[in-house]
Amino acid sequence: MGAELDKASIEKAYARWAPVYDFVFDSVMSTGRKEAVAAAERCGPRILDVGAGTGLEFPYFSPATELTAVDLSEAMLRKAKERVERERIAAVRGILVMDATRLAFEDGVFDAVVAPYVLTVVPEPERTLDELMRVVRPGGEVVLVNHIGAETGPLAAVEGWLAKRTKDLGWRPEFPWSRVGDWLDARPSARLLERRTLAPLGLFTLIRIAKRIGAD
Ligand SMILES: C[S@@+](CC[C@H](N)C(=O)[O-])C[C@H]1O[C@@H](n2cnc3c(N)ncnc32)[C@H](O)[C@@H]1O
Repeated sequence: MGAELDKASIEKAYARWAPVYDFVFDSVMSTGRKEAVAAAERCGPRILDVGAGTGLEFPYFSPATELTAVDLSEAMLRKAKERVERERIAAVRGILVMDATRLAFEDGVFDAVVAPYVLTVVPEPERTLDELMRVVRPGGEVVLVNHIGAETGPLAAVEGWLAKRTKDLGWRPEFPWSRVGDWLDARPSARLLERRTLAPLGLFTLIRIAKRIGAD
């Protein structure tokens, strides 16, 4: 098991990643961003993007969407703000430094919450999922994209080795499905709608979770 992440190591890691993040992670992870945005926009216009980073998903949102974006890292959000100005992205209504485990929003105010490539990065994934579900309206969706760790074989061995560098990398190379599955089992208000692997090579998984109507 790798070292656990904490907020200080996240901020440090992403201050280092910010200048080169787009160069390294733009095209390889673009399918997941597009799919997450499309799924969220089917729920309605009020969308929260948690862990928006440099805003690589922003260009996929329609101008009719009212997007609020949050992230823990000021360095990443500076790049996101530059993108909004440079590319004149109309959907983005607000960009805020905020911790995903303590969202400063009322319950149920968003039609959907997207968090592409974030759950394996946050210090407390289960608490983060609780917060994402809290701010989405009943009938709305939480849409995640993540690398779910291999359970066996050579990839599992590589991920186990990489996990020793978790704090430096700023994400967990090992992230078993059970972390989401166990959380779902304990939350009757949450229903798994979809779990689908994506290009390239099935490396990433799109996860759609609905908040049941009638749930708080
Ligand atoms: C791998 S990046 C993903 C960025 C973007 N969504 C994308 O698709 O490129 C993960 C982001 O999650 C942010 N993050 C990590 N922990 C967080 C937390 N507790 N609250 C808010 N953002 C967090 C990091 O600062 C980083 O910008």
